[in-house]
Amino acid sequence: MKNLKSFNTFGIDCQAREFVEFNSENDFEKIDKVYSESSKLYVLGGGSNTVFLSDSFEGSIIKVENTGKTIISEEVDSVAIEVSAGENWADFVRWTCQQGYSGLENLAAIPGQVGASPVQNIGAYGMQVADRILWVEVHNMKTSDNYRIMNNDCEFAYRYSRWKTSHKEELIYKVVFLLDKQFQANLDYAAIKTYVEQNSIRDITPLKMCDIVTEIRNSKLPDPKVLGNAGSFFKNPEISEEQFLEIEKQYPQIVSFSQENTRKLSAAWLIEQCGFKGEKYDSVGMHAKQALVMVNYGGATGKDVLNLANLVKEKVKEKFDVSLEIEAHLVQ
Ligand code: EPU
Repeated sequence: MKNLKSFNTFGIDCQAREFVEFNSENDFEKIDKVYSESSKLYVLGGGSNTVFLSDSFEGSIIKVENTGKTIISEEVDSVAIEVSAGENWADFVRWTCQQGYSGLENLAAIPGQVGASPVQNIGAYGMQVADRILWVEVHNMKTSDNYRIMNNDCEFAYRYSRWKTSHKEELIYKVVFLLDKQFQANLDYAAIKTYVEQNSIRDITPLKMCDIVTEIRNSKLPDPKVLGNAGSFFKNPEISEEQFLEIEKQYPQIVSFSQENTRKLSAAWLIEQCGFKGEKYDSVGMHAKQALVMVNYGGATGKDVLNLANLVKEKVKEKFDVSLEIEAHLVQ
């Protein structure tokens, strides 16, 4: 038995029946055995996007802990870096910026591990990790084969990849990124543009950008060490342009982002309009500074989480006729 409370940033008190560490490629045989013998298995990275719904997990947790990074090729203007899945994401991003490599700086300060980054295709401030992944090295725990999934085969989409809902037999153990040596700041996102203007920042370097993003995130997203959370709890919903125009007639202030053929709505705005922002429901609530983030005020159970998630979904549906989809991994 192992208590998982310190292994999930939401801070759910959950006992796992079995807990096995994956420290290096020497552990492939060990985890294949766990895979074949266990009725239920969950691969855990930093636990920053996982919410356990029960006080016990009647199965095996594989905790990814392998570390290391290597530059595997270098050109005049780019580098390819192979990174072990157990590396801390934020530390890795900061390290790339310190080397003067760019491409990940807007994804600074996101909690979690490198191996989890392709699973939900992490994205923030106008960048997504899919744009920088060359390939992902996986170990198939069912067949014991190791193989490479090239970017095109990862099925990347907004907060989605081939691993989000299936291919659970594939353990991601390394990710290879292609980064630039030349820097072109990505200032498209309004929050960044405003910050740069207000603070009269010039001569932006990747490291400066990493600091800017870190500061913006820290100003509105709760620190899991202080207030348990799993980042954005819901996805930003995509709706048709027709439906958007209908809603806009009634709510001209609606926050949305134009996509190719659709409209992406700000789920945080929809949730805020329904009155949830900063409200407390027993031990859980939607964060006072970012309504998209569910927080644990202490002692939250899976039931509390589901009750609030359902209430939020219901109210948003009722008011706007829009369905919210949960983004965090809910584990029974
Ligand atoms: N807004 C509100 N109320 C709020 C918060 C935001 O109305 O309580 C509105 C504001 O107008 C704001 C807009 O929504 O300008 C967008 O807000 P924000 O910049 O915070 O981004 P988001 O769309 O809510 C997404 C990601 C975040 C990522 C940010 C920044 C998803 C599900 N979430 O949130 O990712 O950090 O963009 O790029 O796409 C995460 O996945 O854990 C995460 C934090």
